[in-house]
Amino acid sequence: MKEQLEKMEQEALAELRTVATEGELQELRVKYLGKKGELTSLMKGLGSLSPEERPVMGEILNRVKNGLENEFEAALKHVKEFSKTAKLQNEKIDVTLPGRTVSTGTKHPVTLITEEICDIFAKLGFSVAEGPEIEEDYYNFEALNFPKDHPARDMQDTFFVQNNLLLRTHTSPVQVRTMLKTKPPVRIIAPGTVYRCDYDATHSPMFHQVEGLMVDKNITFGDLKGILTTFTNQMFGNDIGVRLRPSFFPFTEPSAEVDIACVICRGKGCKVCKHSGWLEILGAGMVDPEVFKHVHYDPEEISGFAFGMGIERIAMLKYGINDMRLLFENDIRFLKQF
Ligand code: DAH
Repeated sequence: MKEQLEKMEQEALAELRTVATEGELQELRVKYLGKKGELTSLMKGLGSLSPEERPVMGEILNRVKNGLENEFEAALKHVKEFSKTAKLQNEKIDVTLPGRTVSTGTKHPVTLITEEICDIFAKLGFSVAEGPEIEEDYYNFEALNFPKDHPARDMQDTFFVQNNLLLRTHTSPVQVRTMLKTKPPVRIIAPGTVYRCDYDATHSPMFHQVEGLMVDKNITFGDLKGILTTFTNQMFGNDIGVRLRPSFFPFTEPSAEVDIACVICRGKGCKVCKHSGWLEILGAGMVDPEVFKHVHYDPEEISGFAFGMGIERIAMLKYGINDMRLLFENDIRFLKQF
């Protein structure tokens, strides 16, 4: 029994040395000194010894028990001290560290250009109008004089939501919605998101346009040219060349496309302008009488012009960006440059 006791004592002391937490220490106490612990069960064995052996073993048992209890007490102190230091170490604050700087964001180039366009037209007396991105066929096509099955619908690469519901392919439906809500004179621009099933270096399935509409008595093609020249001069500089080319849109007659002199080569001819010296930046024209009929305006009394431009295209020309996809990849290093 004595040997058993000594072996147990050695084991207990060895285990005690490996204890790191109060929890582990408690477990060890239960294992050796608890009610069902190893030492306790050895004590219960005292009864089976002879009357001579009993007091001798009793004394040894008590000594080992007291010894172990002292060791446990010391270990507890040690473990507590240790966890306190560790805690303090963990929570140490270096008050000399500089604070974390909060970096401010920058506006997206598309936002910057949209704001710039709106500012220029605001000074020319245009207010901002809006319309829904999920649009009815009627506003996106029908009222803009795109009859059903008209080949011009093909050019728009439409995303359909349901039969008569689609993602608007241009901001032109805002013209119709605005005229249905207000009587002339009208002078609005409508910036917004538009969608087309198209994707390459110069096309994105989601992009932005600004629509413009000016309707009043005696509005002429000269007004169109004056307003759009003022715009291109303010956007790209007073000396930028501007030209109008005849074109076709179902909702304007006559229609034109507006070019500016190439911002890269200034008209000499380069890769960007395909050696023509010119860059197309917007479509425009005099509002077609058919559109006025849809919004109950009398084409005999009033006239107007409309225009529409792609914001990404303006941003690419103004900032010299050669791939539209860069605008939507959200690489912060790219976006921070503007
Ligand atoms: N909606 C046309 C497009 O997305 C652009 C456009 C052309 C708008 C002529 C107009 C306009 O208002 O008069 O291709």
